[in-house]
Amino acid sequence: MNVAIFSTKPYEKEYLDKANLGLGHHLHYFDASLNADTINLARGFDAVCLFVTDILDMKTTQQLAEMGIKLIDLRSAGFNNIDVEAAEDHHIKVLRVPAYSPQAVAEHAVALMLTLNRKTHKAYNRVREGNFSVENLLGFNLSGKTVGVIGTGKIGAVLVQIMQGFGCKVIAYDLVESEILKAKGVEYRPFAEVLSDSDIISLHCPLNPETQHIINSISLSKMKKGAMLINTGRGGLIKTSHVIESLKSGHLGYLGIDVYEQEEKLFFKDLSGSIIQDDLIERLMGFHNVLITPHQGFFTTEALTQIAETTIKNFTDFEKGLTSENEVKVGNKPINNYAK
Ligand code: NAI
Repeated sequence: MNVAIFSTKPYEKEYLDKANLGLGHHLHYFDASLNADTINLARGFDAVCLFVTDILDMKTTQQLAEMGIKLIDLRSAGFNNIDVEAAEDHHIKVLRVPAYSPQAVAEHAVALMLTLNRKTHKAYNRVREGNFSVENLLGFNLSGKTVGVIGTGKIGAVLVQIMQGFGCKVIAYDLVESEILKAKGVEYRPFAEVLSDSDIISLHCPLNPETQHIINSISLSKMKKGAMLINTGRGGLIKTSHVIESLKSGHLGYLGIDVYEQEEKLFFKDLSGSIIQDDLIERLMGFHNVLITPHQGFFTTEALTQIAETTIKNFTDFEKGLTSENEVKVGNKPINNYAK
């Protein structure tokens, strides 16, 4: 299959080429994102392979159909950057990578917790400058603390296990309670109770109309003073301006985020030579008790391997005319732009 791969990052090629070994798909890599301005790059290919930064609306989808594109293969789980209805209308199949390495994201959530707590990022810089003082590096034991997990699906369940390993009590909120996790000692409680009883809260539910801004001034006020909030889910779960107010007042004790409401304009880009125009993230970066990472929860060799293998398998299955459980159909519309 002759495929145009858009928004390619140098680190991805190695994994995709390896997954393609022996399968013989012709992979043509473009650094550019696919959008109305770059659509002509897709001419002459059978399929396009896209990431979350590629945008396909009704018009560009129609243009793809006119070029003879038969498949849109997403290197992500999220698909709201794609007009799935338009793709269906033009008989273009959309396939995706629905799941990969929940451990990658759960372990990153723990990295945020440990760094914020034990301040290893500050100690690293301090020691490099010959400052061996422990002043202001005071942390707390995780053992014995209560961790509240919002969303106990694939990633949340892995986090539960890790936190129990630290000796934490785990309480949780989910629309669907897991009997397996209950048997392992997890207590499901109403959302408000998880907020009020947790020392650390970690968000692992999807972003949808029900969960958008579940962390807002009201829910923040229910949290323990000095609690830690971790978000590796989606930026839109948190109302950023409300979190800033809570941090300013000293109510929220720590914030660790791998995702951010307006991350489309920032993340996955080197803006170190630019003036950042986003005042909210600038304000967040100014707090000593806030840690921001650029949506790297998924970024492990294991996860990249799984993403590449599923992406290539999608080409092969399509070519063989197989039905795929990875197919995206009209009906399920997440509101997140960065759903990976
Ligand atoms: P999953 O679908 O296995 O689990 C989601 C859980 O949230 C389910 O148990 C579901 O019942 C629950 N849920 C749904 N609506 C809820 C609500 N209103 N309140 C409470 N719980 C609710 O998803 P998975 O794989 O665990 O991923 C979770 C999220 O992590 C994804 O939606 C995605 O946003 C994020 N993610 C972040 C990555 C990163 O690099 N930072 C990478 C991959 C995923």
